[in-house]
Amino acid sequence: MADWSAIEALPARRLTELFDADTDRLARLSLDVAGIHFDWSKTHLTAEAIAAFEALAKAQDLAGKREAMFGGEHVNVTEDRPVEHTAERGEGNPESVARARQFHARMRALIDAIEAGALGDIRHVLHIGIGGSALGPDLLIDALGREDRRYDVAIVSNVDGVALEDVFAKFDPSATLLVIASKTFTTTETMLNAASAIGWMTENGVDDPYGRVVALTANPAKAIEWGVDETRVLPFSEGVGGRYSLWSSIGFPAAIGLGWSAFEELLEGAGEMDRHFRLSALHENAPALAAFADLYYTQVRHCETRAPFAYDERLRLLPSYLQQLEMESNGKSVTADGQPVGRPTAPITWGGVGTDAQHAVFQLLHQGTHLVPVEFIAVIEAGDTLAEDHHRQLLLNAFAQGAALMKGKQAEDPARSYPGDRPSSTLLLDTLDARTLGALIAFYEHRTFVNGVLLGINSFDQFGVELGKEMAKAADQGGQDFDPSTTDLIRRAGLD
Ligand code: F6P
Repeated sequence: MADWSAIEALPARRLTELFDADTDRLARLSLDVAGIHFDWSKTHLTAEAIAAFEALAKAQDLAGKREAMFGGEHVNVTEDRPVEHTAERGEGNPESVARARQFHARMRALIDAIEAGALGDIRHVLHIGIGGSALGPDLLIDALGREDRRYDVAIVSNVDGVALEDVFAKFDPSATLLVIASKTFTTTETMLNAASAIGWMTENGVDDPYGRVVALTANPAKAIEWGVDETRVLPFSEGVGGRYSLWSSIGFPAAIGLGWSAFEELLEGAGEMDRHFRLSALHENAPALAAFADLYYTQVRHCETRAPFAYDERLRLLPSYLQQLEMESNGKSVTADGQPVGRPTAPITWGGVGTDAQHAVFQLLHQGTHLVPVEFIAVIEAGDTLAEDHHRQLLLNAFAQGAALMKGKQAEDPARSYPGDRPSSTLLLDTLDARTLGALIAFYEHRTFVNGVLLGINSFDQFGVELGKEMAKAADQGGQDFDPSTTDLIRRAGLD
């Protein structure tokens, strides 16, 4: 059992006192890595807290586990697999890196062929996938593809046919490339959506709809069996987890929609963060410091949630991307060797977009009874070109919210008082391009890993999603005895 006593005994001091007591606080608790400025000075981290977390990291062999991950050892112990997403960025054991390069080369060749007209006139890309097979591509296209997108790209994930019909109404079936993204190539929602998309193409006179399908998968045999020609199957390794897969062929919509050089820059930016994470001492290591703050709030202050707010419209999908990354990775109750963890694991990740969120949920952050560590993510270079200074307002609002959360305000009227001492961290990107976004996402991945190692859990499996899937399948086949409530709901909806 890891010893958390030094961390649990850390003195509780107000943020404003911490600033007053240490003139170097800002320098000590901020870092610049890969075009991103990180500022944790408005969290309760102190030199003492960092030292206590470093000791825990040593006891939990963070350095050894980090090397084991990069080295291709089977750190995903419950599935007996290596963890290979960093190899996609060129950082990992040579065999995994070489394989990832081959897969990327295959993807590039197919994109070149499509661009040269091998599949006819393609103007639309309909990408079907769910979870990690959709959230990453969606984030990349939404963040980077506003100005210069080569194709109309739509990402459809939900099994609700409304999502697919929205796209059918916009796209020309004879100019659509159908991209089926599924690591397993068995996910019910994806396979049903894919079949319906083939039906839509067929009904609209496309002669050979399967001739317009690209499959992104770690299970090529299944994709071929489903009807995809082997030349249009883009594989990736089993060791690349779904929520860590946007760097692999799952990133195809970004690679084709934003261009190959943008995709390469994304990988390079992530690689830079990988090297920073791998080589920096923990007290100046961005993913480690962020994880220390996360753990301070969950373990010492008993925070049950954390809230990233993107103060940039282009990053509006980041909070939902992070929800899967963090909650699917670390929402566990047992350690890697199957023992009860005995302490809270991942907080609930929620969040939104600034400034909208200020007019909706910030009331609770400032005056509610829950302590919520907030994270502001903002970009110095504006995404808009409007004459009025929208971007100035956007950034000043983000910074002012952080200051207000920390400072608070005493008023005679309790309803108008703000307790203050509420923590926030700020991630300030120089610009939003593929390279910086790659570094940002890789930062979050490694932060999630550090959280997992310090808690002693395996961040790379996700067995918790299986039971509901199994029961839905059984219900569809009529072979499940449900409780009275569920049976009644099925009957009322006419599904029995
Ligand atoms: O249900 C969870 C999950 O397994 C995720 O981890 C994964 O990203 C998603 O489903 C999609 O899985 P697949 O890529 O195999 O279709």
